[in-house]
Amino acid sequence: MKKITIAIDGFSSTGKSTLAKQLAKELEYVYVDTGAMYRAVAYFAMQHSLISADFFKKDALIEGLSDIRLEFRFNSDLGFAEMFLNDENVEKQIRTIEVSNFVSKVAAVSEVRAKLVEQQQEMGTNKAIVMDGRDIGTVVFPNAELKIFMTASAETRAQRRFDELQQKGDNVTYEEVLKNVMDRDYMDTHREDSPLVIADDAIEIDNSYLNKEEQFAAVLELVNDVVKLD
Ligand code: DC
Repeated sequence: MKKITIAIDGFSSTGKSTLAKQLAKELEYVYVDTGAMYRAVAYFAMQHSLISADFFKKDALIEGLSDIRLEFRFNSDLGFAEMFLNDENVEKQIRTIEVSNFVSKVAAVSEVRAKLVEQQQEMGTNKAIVMDGRDIGTVVFPNAELKIFMTASAETRAQRRFDELQQKGDNVTYEEVLKNVMDRDYMDTHREDSPLVIADDAIEIDNSYLNKEEQFAAVLELVNDVVKLD
């Protein structure tokens, strides 16, 4: 069967990674969560006291970029790849609300984006890949055969994120999560470099009222159409 590149973009907490993982498993493709890469850089900045609520030492982060080595290592017990930052498994650390609060600032730095986009493009040279993020269909793989753009209301997304964080034992309020979702939407869509926009040839899916199964079935049909067409 013909191998394609699938780009999944959209707002935070729209279930991009759930869909991307399902697709990768079904098609036996590689799944890449590019948000994890931006989160790992934000975590690096926190570890090195380059970012806090009051300051962001952007130039020092740019200088330190050559010290950052990101790698996905597949965990067969979990069934997906985990993020490693300089050989340390940071999968848990990068999912906290603290990292979520700083990541958009880090993701707005052009030098950070250039480094990560280059690595992402290398991962996609053999196709058979599902990649999710904000700029996959517009910047990373503008020629992807299938582009999906996912949306849902901010309240729906905040509730999903809140439930997830609570399950993990993270001590946050719904209001805090909603504010984070809305702040990130704003920053992701208003940054100068590669803002979150829908690609002209992307198919938009609003999943506020779709369950995971319905969504998966719809997208699988889209994949089949693309593969058949060629
Ligand atoms: O998908 P996520 O919520 O884990 O992404 C974390 C942040 O990283 C998000 O607020 C924006 C940024 N990001 C980006 O700018 N470009 C990408 N391709 C992926 C994520």
